[in-house]
Amino acid sequence: MKRIGVLTGGGDAAGMNPALRAVVRTAWRHKAEVIGIRRGWLGLAEGTYETMTAGSVSGILGQGGTILRTFRYPEFATDEGTAPVAKTIKELKLDGMVVIGGDGSFRGATKLTKEFGLPVVGVPATIDNDIPGTDISIGFDTALNIAIEAVDKVRDTATSHGRIFVIEVMGREYGLLAAQTAIATGAEEVLLPEIPFDMNDLARRIKDGYARGKQHAIIVVAEGAGKASYITFELQERLQRGVRMVVLGHVQRGGAPSGYDRILASRLGHHATELLFEGKHGIMVGLVANKLTTSSLEKKGKVSPKSVLRDAKLMEYLV
Ligand code: F6P
Repeated sequence: MKRIGVLTGGGDAAGMNPALRAVVRTAWRHKAEVIGIRRGWLGLAEGTYETMTAGSVSGILGQGGTILRTFRYPEFATDEGTAPVAKTIKELKLDGMVVIGGDGSFRGATKLTKEFGLPVVGVPATIDNDIPGTDISIGFDTALNIAIEAVDKVRDTATSHGRIFVIEVMGREYGLLAAQTAIATGAEEVLLPEIPFDMNDLARRIKDGYARGKQHAIIVVAEGAGKASYITFELQERLQRGVRMVVLGHVQRGGAPSGYDRILASRLGHHATELLFEGKHGIMVGLVANKLTTSSLEKKGKVSPKSVLRDAKLMEYLV
């Protein structure tokens, strides 16, 4: 393998930079040329890329975001979007590619392999941690710690005023980020897409909590379970008192990667590149039971709700 490509795709996640660093430095050990594609699949369509050396990734280990930048590029699924990508791939004469991203990026990667015969290895990076084939994806730990810090701060003011707060956490259709934020912050309630909830029951439990002497109520809501604005309005109606709302949003995607994410990203980026040089492809690397593993890139399917249900059960005992 003489020349490999690397890109970061989908929503950025803290840890993409250390993963990229590991890919570039590992490929350099194999004396291969590395082409960094800018802005994900869009960079392949527009032909924007750069040659990367071991020095191009100096000092990025602790940087948030992705120096290669990223882009949501759903056009890649269409014929019009694919044609310019094919042109760049031909031009670049790549022998393989490492794709760092989430499930959308892996659908693109599968397309690259199927339509252009390009060997691809995927590295899971998304704050949602919703990719089957790994216990944890790059960026989840950092986002969780950001959410915890934010909820801890909100709790201080909630207690001072005796207030109710609804705090919306990202995670798309998967509730793990919200469930673990709730456990780690001692929230009174968590609303998850995996578990139906009743607004009247929720209002009753909050009322009961105050009656038992609670000084505040923190309700963590996963974005996939409902909008914080809706939950806030419905609670105000039922409780006939003010309810405050915080949407954490993209704050969770930024900032320096945690120590855990730096190490996870370095391990996964290195492993993916080694496998590509061993001639393995059509796979995603992952960490399962603390061991480096691989799974098929193509047959990803939907993530199991098992971990979320486990954490929701734990919450029942802790409130
Ligand atoms: O997939 C990561 C994620 O941050 C989700 O949690 C969220 O729903 C989505 O991306 C937001 O996407 P965008 O950055 O395109 O608004």
